[in-house]
Amino acid sequence: GSGGLVDRYGRTATDLRVSLTDRCNLRCTYCMPPEGLDWLPKTEVLTDDEIGRLVRIGVEELGIREVRFTGGEPLLRPGLVGIVAAATALSPRPEVSLTTNAIGLSRVAPALAEAGLDRINVSLDTIDRTRFKQLTHRDRLDDVLAGLAAARDAGLTPVKVNAVLMRGLNEEDAVPLLDYCLEHGYQLRFIEQMPLDAHHAWTRGEMVTAEDILERLSAAHSLTPDTEERGSAPAERWLVDGGPSTVGVIASVTRSFCGTCDRTRLTADGQIRNCLFAREESDLRTALRDGATDAELADRWRIATLGKLPGHGIDDPSFLQPNRPMSAIGG
Ligand code: GTP
Ligand code: 5AD
Ligand code: SF4
Repeated sequence: GSGGLVDRYGRTATDLRVSLTDRCNLRCTYCMPPEGLDWLPKTEVLTDDEIGRLVRIGVEELGIREVRFTGGEPLLRPGLVGIVAAATALSPRPEVSLTTNAIGLSRVAPALAEAGLDRINVSLDTIDRTRFKQLTHRDRLDDVLAGLAAARDAGLTPVKVNAVLMRGLNEEDAVPLLDYCLEHGYQLRFIEQMPLDAHHAWTRGEMVTAEDILERLSAAHSLTPDTEERGSAPAERWLVDGGPSTVGVIASVTRSFCGTCDRTRLTADGQIRNCLFAREESDLRTALRDGATDAELADRWRIATLGKLPGHGIDDPSFLQPNRPMSAIGG
């Protein structure tokens, strides 16, 4: 075959999300139990060169234009700077970004910028030190805030902050988080929690919705819709107090954006997932290690895309949570 990653509903995947590890150094309650998870065996994790090859095939053969490295926590990957440099050396040059918890970022931000990284998104659910420790089981708030500042200072902008609000846990952190981001020049987005937790404890009724979030923010700030074109970006944006700063809401559940989805995923163990909620994966690692050619790997990837579902189906009575949690799929 030839051409891009087109599915049966006419969507084309041009945005590749690559998970570099399933491990993490935080234990956010909605993502990972305190004792961790059963980590992938080392032999099953793609090497730096294998990742480089698959990203190259994505860009050169399959029309990928944006590459995002995620985890687990991608900063735990020793070869990260080299992996980024390999991606930014491709042509056509993809946009390359990173989603991270920012622990250790203050040290590597300059090297990442040097390697051509374009921008960074940081996960942060509170700026209250005590609550940070409760939510993540680690006392690392200062490292995260230093990492954010280092990303901005290294020019990895816009620096975006992702916050998941949980009922009764950190809802009151919403406004302080926004004020902090406004003050420091970070673009904050609130995210509706999706059923991707390790314990399958998510319920629709407990979820803090986009509507809840907007109501809470509106008590402290005036919000007006940002009229800039959204495309397939997941965040709906509002101007805060007349702008130019904005706040976003990623309403993955209540206002799903699956109809314009342009994503494809590569897991740390070399499986293609056509959707966060896919029921099946396509094993590129085995094919690659068995000597498949670039063209054969590209064909497998195209075929894997054909099976992409029209949407996540979270509201269907028959909905089943994927067997891998977010940390193993890649956020
Ligand atoms: P930019 O806006 O381009 O910076 O990227 P992004 O928001 O897609 O990336 P990021 O990694 O920061 O992800 C933010 C949030 O979007 C995640 O926490 C998820 O909740 C949500 N998200 C990411 N990918 C998907 C996806 O494929 N489907 C859905 N429904 N939500 C996603
Ligand atoms: N639903 C929505 N977002 C989630 N994240 C982790 N788990 C979930 C979930 N169940 C977010 C993190 C991070 C991003 C990669 O994914 O907060 O910002
Ligand atoms: Fe795309 Fe699946 Fe995410 Fe919907 S849930 S936006 S189809 S990856």
